[in-house]
Amino acid sequence: MERVLPFRFDEREKTFWLLDQRKLPFEEVWVPCRTAAEAAAGIRDMVVRGAPAIGVTAAYGMVLAHLSGEDPAEADQVLRQSRPTAVNLFYALDRMKPYWGNSQASLEEARAIWREVEDTERAISQHGARVLRGQVLTHCNTGPLATGGYGTALGAIVEAYRQGRIHHVWVDETRPYLQGARLTAWELQKAGVPATLVTDNMAGYLMSKGRVDAVILGTDRMAINGDFANKIGTYALAVLAHYHGIPFYPALPLSSVDPTLRTGADIPIEERSALEVTTVRGIPIAPEGFPAAHPAFDVTPHALVTGIVTEKGVLYPPFDEALRAALDR
Ligand code: MRU
Repeated sequence: MERVLPFRFDEREKTFWLLDQRKLPFEEVWVPCRTAAEAAAGIRDMVVRGAPAIGVTAAYGMVLAHLSGEDPAEADQVLRQSRPTAVNLFYALDRMKPYWGNSQASLEEARAIWREVEDTERAISQHGARVLRGQVLTHCNTGPLATGGYGTALGAIVEAYRQGRIHHVWVDETRPYLQGARLTAWELQKAGVPATLVTDNMAGYLMSKGRVDAVILGTDRMAINGDFANKIGTYALAVLAHYHGIPFYPALPLSSVDPTLRTGADIPIEERSALEVTTVRGIPIAPEGFPAAHPAFDVTPHALVTGIVTEKGVLYPPFDEALRAALDR
C-alpha cells in the first residue's frame, strides 16, 4: 500500500513536521513544530488526529521540549491537555516520563513508540483481515494518516482486499469533520481498493438490503470490559449491526486499552466547537448563531461487539478476561 504518513522528524532542523490533515485531500501542507506547545496545538487543532498518531506526536512533543529548552513538567501538562479521549496520548506521555531531562534517551523512546505502532499494526492488519468477507463498512479514518503506521481497521481492510477476502468497502463520510470522505476515501483510492462513499445516515438502509457483511472501525479508548470510545456515530452503527446480525469489530493496539477503567462510562468524551457542526470548510450550513452540539466521540457497550481485533489476535467474550490475558502476554 502506498502510504502517506502524518509526520516526520528532522533531527538536524530539530523540527517535527505535521501533515495538515485539515487540508487533505485538496492540499498537502506541512506544519513545523519546534516546541511541545506547538505539537500540542497541532493535536488540539486537528492538524494531526487519530489515536496512535496523537500518541506519537505527544512523544515527539516531549523530544521538542528537550531540544527547545522547555520545562519537561510544563510540556507534559500542555500536551496532556491537548485532547482528552484517546488514551494513546497519555500512554505515550507516561512512557516518556522516565526520560525527562535526557534529550537522547527521550528521542530513542519516541522512536520506539513510533516503531511499535508499525509493528503492532502489521499484526492487527493480518488478524483483522481473517474475520472480514464480502463487503465491509467503516467509519472515520483509521489508516496510516491516523496512526503513522499501516493503520488499524483500515490496515485490516486493505489486507483483506489484498487476500481476496473482501471486494468492496462502504466509507461513512463521518460528520462533522469528514475524516471518512476526506481521508479514508483518499487512502483507499491510493491503495486501489474498490470503495463507495456514503453519508452516515445510509448505513441502516445498506444493512437492511444485505449489502454489509461486517463493520470494522477504530478505537480511541477501551475500558477493560470491552466498552470503547470511538468517533461519534460508532454507537449507532453498533446498534444497527446488532439488529441486522452483522459482525461488528473494533480494531486497536493494546495501547488503546485503559486498564484503569472498568467500564466505558468513565471515558472522557471530548466536546468540540459547535462551529465545526454549523460550518463545512468555513461555509455556514445553519442559521447564524444557531446552537449546535458536538460530542466528538461516543461509547459503544461491549455487548454489541463481536470481536476485538488486536496485535495479539482477535479477542472474543468474555472480553475482560481476554483483554487482561492479552495485556499480560
Ligand atoms: O477526532 P479524530 O479524527 O482524532 O478521531 C479518530 C477516530 O475516532 C479513530 O477512529 C480512532 O482514533 C482510531 S485511529 C486508528
